[in-house]
Amino acid sequence: IEPSNKYMFKHKGAYFVQDITTAEYIDSLEDFEIRDSDVFVATFPKSGTVWVQNILSLIYHEGHRDGTENIDLMDRVPWLEYNLRNVDYVNRPSPRLFATHLLHNLVPSDLRNRTGKVIYVARNPKDVVVSYFHFSNFIVKLETISDFNVFLEKFLAGKVVWSSWLDHIEGWFTHRDDFNILFLTFEEMKKDLRGAVLKICKFLGKQLTEKELDTVVENASFDNMKRDVRANYENIPETSLQEQGKGYFLRKGTIGDWKNTMTVAQSERFDSVFKGKIQELPFKFIWDIN
Ligand code: A3P
Repeated sequence: IEPSNKYMFKHKGAYFVQDITTAEYIDSLEDFEIRDSDVFVATFPKSGTVWVQNILSLIYHEGHRDGTENIDLMDRVPWLEYNLRNVDYVNRPSPRLFATHLLHNLVPSDLRNRTGKVIYVARNPKDVVVSYFHFSNFIVKLETISDFNVFLEKFLAGKVVWSSWLDHIEGWFTHRDDFNILFLTFEEMKKDLRGAVLKICKFLGKQLTEKELDTVVENASFDNMKRDVRANYENIPETSLQEQGKGYFLRKGTIGDWKNTMTVAQSERFDSVFKGKIQELPFKFIWDIN
């Protein structure tokens, strides 16, 4: 289960995607100046990042897109640690929206001192591992692993790009007082999207009219995002990023899909490594992993 250097490198205890970022760049983010108006969506991958990126984009831009209608989500809410299109983040006009998968201790220090806002989204890790397994098989920059068992072992050992799900979530939760932060779960968004959007608006101090709210909720539904080429990442021109036709960012978008992939033995294996540790975390999730 040792990670392949071809696909990932380790820096400050975390694994990063090879080629599209560097250790020096990650280090430089420590001093990246944060503005009060900056908003970050922080997640362990496959927890609903694109979904919240789109919600943020809709809240900030819908109805007044000013000719920016055709701008992809990746440009509206770019990745902090993977500046794929070499955008000038420093001089980007406010409000700047970013996505990040960084562990809490690697984000800009201003953010850890309550400047700017963070929305952290968590998801049942069994759904995360299944989603991630499919993801790594169509993203060119991730190692293709066709045997789910092998992938599961790597995931449980934290030997995947973005490292351990447990460390990620534990770090962000236990240091929550360092941040202006809102915690959401994929599951609550799925069960009550309107309620989740309202929570986000309240956190951001954004007052939308009922009509604007309806538009955000409608455009953030799985079916509409799946159709929206600006939001579903399917027309990303970087052919080096994904293998066409092998999979989608918007795959199923459901709760409990892990049951269709994991065998009983694999689920028990997962529980034997993770369940006790999850129970020890200083907070309770709305889900029981089973
Ligand atoms: P599945 O692979 O289980 O379908 P991320 O953006 O963090 O990479 O997460 C991707 C996961 O979020 C995928 O899960 C994707 O389908 C799901 N997702 C994205 N947008 C969604 C939406 N509007 N509604 C429900 N699920 C969504």
